[in-house]
Amino acid sequence: MNNKTISGFSKLSKRGKLKWIVENFFKDPEYTMKELQSYWHGNEDQQKVIDGFSENTISNFILPYGVAPNFIIDGKEYVVPMVIEESSVVAAASSAAKFWASRGGFKTTILGTTKIGQIHFLWSGDKNKLIAAMPSIKARMLKDSLDIVSNMVKRGGGVVDIILKDMTDKEPDYYKFTVSFETCDSMGANFINSCLESFSKSFCEWCMEADGFTDAEKDVTILMSILSNFTPDCLVKAEVSCPVEDLGIIDDLPPEVFAEKFAKAIRIAHIDPYRATTHNKGIFNGIDAVVIATANDFRAIEAAGHTYASLSGSYTSLSHCTIENGIFKFWLVVPLAVGTVGGLTALHPIAKFSLELLGYPSAKELMSIISSAGLAKNFAAIKSLITTGIQKGHMKMHLQNMLTQLKASDEQVLAATEYFKDKVVSFASLREFLQSPHEA
Ligand code: MEV
Repeated sequence: MNNKTISGFSKLSKRGKLKWIVENFFKDPEYTMKELQSYWHGNEDQQKVIDGFSENTISNFILPYGVAPNFIIDGKEYVVPMVIEESSVVAAASSAAKFWASRGGFKTTILGTTKIGQIHFLWSGDKNKLIAAMPSIKARMLKDSLDIVSNMVKRGGGVVDIILKDMTDKEPDYYKFTVSFETCDSMGANFINSCLESFSKSFCEWCMEADGFTDAEKDVTILMSILSNFTPDCLVKAEVSCPVEDLGIIDDLPPEVFAEKFAKAIRIAHIDPYRATTHNKGIFNGIDAVVIATANDFRAIEAAGHTYASLSGSYTSLSHCTIENGIFKFWLVVPLAVGTVGGLTALHPIAKFSLELLGYPSAKELMSIISSAGLAKNFAAIKSLITTGIQKGHMKMHLQNMLTQLKASDEQVLAATEYFKDKVVSFASLREFLQSPHEA
């Protein structure tokens, strides 16, 4: 019987780790070792960079790198890189981009770029003393962090404000500093966290040295110094609009009928959290794909988006639609804290190409591109849902995956693609089709 616990695993070489894994957890260690090794990068230096992103790596996990052409965003043409494992997302985004390219394209507005960090601390004493000391505490924090912030200040960013918040009505002795930052073209997580940790240290020192503070008041307990991934002030709006009649006939629906059905579908996503969740998931299909392709942090983006969608107290749609004075207007407002310099954006071998493909955008321009991809994907999903349903397009794409999985020959792929053009496809029906004799 194998011993499946190990100490010192992280100290093993990569090959040693893989060997231990395949020998202990796989039916065919030799085959698995070979397969997982086949995904190692051919270039050892590149592989080292990739391994540096994480720990205990034994192979690389591959996802498709696709592109959606025909995006016109604020008058500029883009081919948008998308990394996603779900079929039809790239096709849908491309087709929505093309649809809107001939109707003025996407227009975006950056509504803000500041990000928030928090220092949560416990302090007991006369809160008026703390409030009165804030200008002096703030000055000490800023002075002590000059080294950390100087580069960011040179680039036009830095610390925007530091505000003390009394939270003692919620939790005894609980206060926090809310610090706002401008991080220019970087996402800024490391910068923000370094500043916050420096501010915490300065604050503790300031209190220790403060004249007129009692022993209890000199004693601060810093609980956490960490950025907030909720970034409602790092916000972008992406919009498409056109006269209703310019929508044209869509899947046999006259433009007025399509527009009304579309607006109702958005309205339902505002009313019903079950629908809103799926609706926003569709938006994030587009957003995450570009966020990942540019090596930004999709967990942070998702977390912020879902909090923003809940701001009213119930979870609701991130996109909106109106039909007023014969104009169909569809828009999305979403927080997007992304960067185009620093972090993984500079290190990931493919992210570099994504940024080049996009013409080396600033962080603001990337916010515009990503929100447009989210809106495009949302438009495509709602358009399908209120006309043909999504399964037709979905299954058409999925058919190719199933054919690959069933190891169909080139002729079988052609025959099955033709046969299932107007039929519902499932694994069972496809397997049956492949096993039955049919004309090529
Ligand atoms: C599927 O990944 C996404 C959709 O369900 C989104 C939606 O329903 O709006 C099609």
